[in-house]
Amino acid sequence: MVELGPGTGGTTKALLEAMPSQSRLLTIELDPRFSELLEALGDPRLIPHTGSATDIADILQEHSLPAPDAVISGIPFSTMPQEIGQSIIRAVRDCLAPGGIFLAYQFRGHVGRLGAPEMGTPDVQMEWLNIPPMRFYRWVKQ
Ligand SMILES: C[S@@+](CC[C@H](N)C(=O)[O-])C[C@H]1O[C@@H](n2cnc3c(N)ncnc32)[C@H](O)[C@@H]1O
Repeated sequence: MVELGPGTGGTTKALLEAMPSQSRLLTIELDPRFSELLEALGDPRLIPHTGSATDIADILQEHSLPAPDAVISGIPFSTMPQEIGQSIIRAVRDCLAPGGIFLAYQFRGHVGRLGAPEMGTPDVQMEWLNIPPMRFYRWVKQ
């Protein structure tokens, strides 16, 4: 699995709890201080990488990792330039394993509009218990 924009690792810890022992989680985060926090978790399945989600293909190669089964994203598509958002979604689509999942959780709808031309209409679900409610956009690579 790959997590884009793990921040301080709240979602990362939940993913690690749910992952089987033989799996691996590559996190890609712009801020090196956040990568250091993740490093300190000391989980052998976790590979924290400081860099940009746009470079996901090169980063997977650098760590000798295969095409991921799932990419989970918490990066803010609503506040980044549209061209960067599109290039991230294309890079994710191109690197995913066939049948792989791209899941982006967001407060706003930009990622759904950006992703539809690249990956088709997403499945959208709301988590009402989050404050404010969170949207989950989910694509499956054909
Ligand atoms: C809203 S925070 C993530 C919160 C975190 N996922 C959580 O569950 O608490 C967004 C993170 O995305 C990172 N980010 C923004 N653009 C990015 C990019 N192009 N590549 C990698 N990380 C990025 C930011 O540095 C920030 O840490």
